[in-house]
Amino acid sequence: MAQPVEGFSKRSKDEKIRWLAENYTDYPEETQRLLKQYWNSDAQLQQLHDEFIENTISNFYLPLGVAPNFLINGKLYAIPMAIEESSVVAAASKAAKYWGCRGGFHAEILGTEKIGQVHFQYHGPKKGLQSFIEAITPQLLQDAEPITRNMEKRGGGVTGIELRDRTDGLDGYYQLHCRFETRDAMGANFINSCLEQFATTLLREAGNHPDLGGEAQPIEVLMSILSNYTPGCLVRAEVRCRVEELEAESGMEGAEIASRLVRAVQVADCEPYRAVTHNKGIMNGIDAVVIATGNDFRAVEAGVHAYAARSGSYRSLTGAECTDGMFRFWIELPLALGTVGGLTQLHPLVKLGLNILGNPGAPELMQIVAVAGLAQNFAAVRSLVTTGIQRGHMKMHLLNILNQLGATEAEKTAVVDYFRTHTVSHSEVVARLNALRQMP
Ligand code: MEV
Repeated sequence: MAQPVEGFSKRSKDEKIRWLAENYTDYPEETQRLLKQYWNSDAQLQQLHDEFIENTISNFYLPLGVAPNFLINGKLYAIPMAIEESSVVAAASKAAKYWGCRGGFHAEILGTEKIGQVHFQYHGPKKGLQSFIEAITPQLLQDAEPITRNMEKRGGGVTGIELRDRTDGLDGYYQLHCRFETRDAMGANFINSCLEQFATTLLREAGNHPDLGGEAQPIEVLMSILSNYTPGCLVRAEVRCRVEELEAESGMEGAEIASRLVRAVQVADCEPYRAVTHNKGIMNGIDAVVIATGNDFRAVEAGVHAYAARSGSYRSLTGAECTDGMFRFWIELPLALGTVGGLTQLHPLVKLGLNILGNPGAPELMQIVAVAGLAQNFAAVRSLVTTGIQRGHMKMHLLNILNQLGATEAEKTAVVDYFRTHTVSHSEVVARLNALRQMP
């Protein structure tokens, strides 16, 4: 049985790998070879990746694809997507092409506000606390000035500090609820640094303050941290066309497809079991672009799902309607993204991804990402209400199955060719490959 290890982070990469392979794997030699096989031959590039995190032992590849032909607000984009799921890039490309000749995607920013909070405890008189916070607000801002100076030069900064009484939920619990504008930065470091400075000033100013009930230190700060719930950092994207412009599919006219699409979105809006899968399909597109552009997909996921549940029940992030002969399909969601700072200038493929997109600022990237989510949802729901999802899905999964079965290049070509006109299933692929192998 493996023993706890001391000082692991201080060991060399080789030592870490050997220790891991010998203590935790069934095939130590092969493990070491495999991990090193994924190292980059350019030592400098590898070192860059090693230093992103602690205890790096290798690299974990995800395919980087590109979905071309996205017409967004009249500008044509090729969107980089990092994702392992076979059908996602294909579906995005298909939706881009579909809407490219129907006016493209229309996107707009509804807000760019970020939130951070200093959570603290206080049991003195409430009235005194409110006047105390109002009195020290200029000091809070002044003490944070060394942190905010550069951001202010770029048009950002702290846009509000407000005392919130949350004693309804928890005895003695208050917060400084702070608003920020972070321009092209996602802003996590900026916000957290400001908040920690606010906490320091708050404690200093509270000591022996006459309005706060006479205690030497009436306030206890619990923590200072940004919120990943960003309903004020919001983007909307839409596609629209006349119903008769929608393509027929699987024997269904455009009008029938439109009404089935609207119904499917209504189902997701009122049924959480469906809404979660519906929104997961949206996140297929969103996360892929968020990762390819070096943004924090966990932050985006957390914020988006909280937004989907803002009414008290978990609902669809997209909407659809058919009125006066017009079909409209839209998405509205919070996206706290950055195009400067973090990994954006550090990871060579992220830098390239942003370059492919024309080096957008954060608001433009928010629009592109929202469009990727909308396109993905349109493609998925359209398939679901017409052909069903498995036809396209399995077609894209075919190469994965063939690779699993160890097919040669010649076998892959022959089997892919066969399934152009046949329905893919795992057992059918096995049967076809076996038949091929038995041929003289
Ligand atoms: C699969 O990754 C995503 C879908 O399930 C989305 C949906 O059902 O809308 C196809």
